[in-house]
Amino acid sequence: MKLFKNVKPVIAIDGTSVSGKGTLAKNIAKQLNYDHLDTGSLYRYVAYLMLIDNVDLKNTISLRKKFNFDHIKKLDLRSESITKLSSVIAKKKEIRVFLIDIQRNFANNPPSGLGSVIDGRDIGTVVVPLAEIKLFVDANIVVRAKRRHIDLKTKGENLDYNLILKQISERDKRDKNRAISPLIKHKEALPIDTSKLTKEDSVKLALDLIKKTGKLKLINY
Ligand code: DC
Repeated sequence: MKLFKNVKPVIAIDGTSVSGKGTLAKNIAKQLNYDHLDTGSLYRYVAYLMLIDNVDLKNTISLRKKFNFDHIKKLDLRSESITKLSSVIAKKKEIRVFLIDIQRNFANNPPSGLGSVIDGRDIGTVVVPLAEIKLFVDANIVVRAKRRHIDLKTKGENLDYNLILKQISERDKRDKNRAISPLIKHKEALPIDTSKLTKEDSVKLALDLIKKTGKLKLINY
């Protein structure tokens, strides 16, 4: 199979759940005037269509018909049921094949026309293998569970800390051990451990690392 070659610059960010990769991706995109694609939201949206609309996931024609990219931003896809189901359906080959085209189309046609920052689990390894920059974001699991606990509390949801820790550990296992597109660090990916970093520190570290590669022109940095 021919390797997909992106025609616009891409910063591919992969990493574990609740590692801060989404926020980091959003902030890097803002800084560079690139567009951000949170690919987790695509898997969450498919889970939503399955839960709410009873879409049969084996029938990708029906999924294709229902899938409305503009609808995603209007939905709250962060509930526990969608979070769990998205991690389960992400194992399915037909879903990954369906979503890969959508992600590559975004990479080649970012609305800004400049480039994109795409975050997920398999962006640098599978979706955009020739991405100019690849980052791998992780943090200690206890730190991630604490962050999630605080986030949920702020939203008024009082979930038990130990349950959150267990759920994150289960998601890590599913992400890392699935047969198709498991979460692994690409050998060229630059590692970022956010355990002891603030959001601002993480952005600075990432931009410094990107600058050092010399692979992208950073106009605003
Ligand atoms: O990043 P997130 O938590 O919003 O992702 C939701 C689920 O989707 C997660 O359990 C793993 C899956 N996912 C994936 O398998 N591949 C991606 N590129 C992005 C997300």
